[in-house]
Amino acid sequence: MEEYILNSDEEEIKRFSKLSGEWWKENGAFAPLHRITPIRIEFILKAVNDGQEYSTDEERPLKNLNIIDVGCGGGILSEPLKRLGASITGIDASETAIQSARLHSRKSNLEINYLVGTIDSLIEQKKLYDLVIASEVIEHVQDPNDFIKGLKKLVLPKGKIILTTLSRSLKSFLIAKVAAEYLTKIIPVGTHEWKKFLNPQELETLLASDGFRVDFIKGMTYKIKSDRFVLSDDLSMNYAIAATYFESTTI
Ligand SMILES: C[S@@+](CC[C@H](N)C(=O)[O-])C[C@H]1O[C@@H](n2cnc3c(N)ncnc32)[C@H](O)[C@@H]1O
Repeated sequence: MEEYILNSDEEEIKRFSKLSGEWWKENGAFAPLHRITPIRIEFILKAVNDGQEYSTDEERPLKNLNIIDVGCGGGILSEPLKRLGASITGIDASETAIQSARLHSRKSNLEINYLVGTIDSLIEQKKLYDLVIASEVIEHVQDPNDFIKGLKKLVLPKGKIILTTLSRSLKSFLIAKVAAEYLTKIIPVGTHEWKKFLNPQELETLLASDGFRVDFIKGMTYKIKSDRFVLSDDLSMNYAIAATYFESTTI
């Protein structure tokens, strides 16, 4: 059995573990994750509705879906997904992140199955999900190719994968690295290793080589005027990608 545990970068996990008190502070170290959550949800709803907008009358649009949030951290994304009706498992290699997630979900009165670890234990148990999400995680793993291969093993045939990450561009270097970490100090120094970022085309190629058909990609762009993030066609900074898994024989 392949060991995906090797794919978690110990230094990265230690860094996240030290920040465990920050997960639910809206203006703390994870502020950017809170800020992009509404559009992450918008993107996810669109992806599970095959690219169409959801009717806002539907209160629990994810009610029939079994979702795994890989690298869920403190549960910033898991909680709204649960509120939308999903059955949700959150897994993270950082024990303290999961402690924070469990504590907060209890306060929020939400039943979420939080697990400490990497996905290898789930693969071993042959767990399968309708939707596998890894949001802002792939840029923190040792080998993205291996990571995708592991995630693939958790997706039901014709199930979906959604990844969000940062593009490796001059803009992301200047904004996500230089400005966010050093000039404005919005996020702690060392949060990102720019060289690890994948461009949309690179991620598309990795997904395609593992039996996924990319459904659509959207940029997650900050608009100064309205002081919020919107889904856009600008893929040079943060972006989200949705793909459907077809076993290699049926693609
Ligand atoms: C930037 S945070 C994103 C948290 C969450 N997905 C969100 O967007 O709110 C990255 C998280 O991925 C976790 N992580 C990194 N590599 C991992 C791996 N191989 N397996 C599980 N978790 C991992 C880290 O511990 C950290 O909590």
